[in-house]
Amino acid sequence: MRLSREQMLVEMGLGPIWRERTQAPLRVSGEISAGAGGLPPPQQVPENPPDLANPVPALVAAADPAHLEWPELAQHVGACRACGLCQQRKQAVLGVGDRQADWLFVGEGPGAEEDVQGEPFVGQAGKLLDNMLAALDLKRDHKVYIANAVKCRPPGNRTPEAAEMAACRPYLARQIALIQPKIIVLLGKAAAYAVLHEDKTLAAMRGQHFAYQGIPVVVTYHPSYLLRNLPDKAKAWEDLLRARQILRATPTS
Ligand code: URA
Repeated sequence: MRLSREQMLVEMGLGPIWRERTQAPLRVSGEISAGAGGLPPPQQVPENPPDLANPVPALVAAADPAHLEWPELAQHVGACRACGLCQQRKQAVLGVGDRQADWLFVGEGPGAEEDVQGEPFVGQAGKLLDNMLAALDLKRDHKVYIANAVKCRPPGNRTPEAAEMAACRPYLARQIALIQPKIIVLLGKAAAYAVLHEDKTLAAMRGQHFAYQGIPVVVTYHPSYLLRNLPDKAKAWEDLLRARQILRATPTS
């Protein structure tokens, strides 16, 4: 049975009534700036002037987390000072969900609410993500793990810079190695860059076959982008159905 766009949205529990209530003033979404391809240029958006009387400690390269188990990994991420994002975070946000998940969703980085609550995707975009999961009969704490390309909030909710994603990548790599998901869904361009080093437009990556260390990867729109671009929710739903199809076709070990 082929669903109409409207039916797909209803199926996702979204309906035509979803609207972004406020526009985050400094957010630069990968999809929005995707035009000619390539990650958006690095931006420094200092929220506060530097406190010259109390200089921040020097940044410290992340210790290799390749062999850490979850508790140590959480400690390392919480104390990480490998990039400048540590300077304004309230806390690092490791991830949430089932550590034996079949599905791993990777977003961009914590926003303001995630920075306060210490959990990924708890704001408006998170509600949409939860609805997308529910449409697949999934929940964030059952068979699903949700992580981000960077664990600390980029100031002003800007897109993380390539160097910040590189500094954080070992943590995400370790999460993937520990979880061993059957499918990875990358939400937006930043996640695609962080995991696949792909720097194409989202439109070019959708529907393509990717893999990370043998695990199939599907690239789709970031929920924040979908809140601003309602018609593309139907495309995201198609991507999720494709991901489910791939997962179902994966032999169970
Ligand atoms: N956007 C993201 O990419 N991640 C979050 O955790 C929240 C919003």
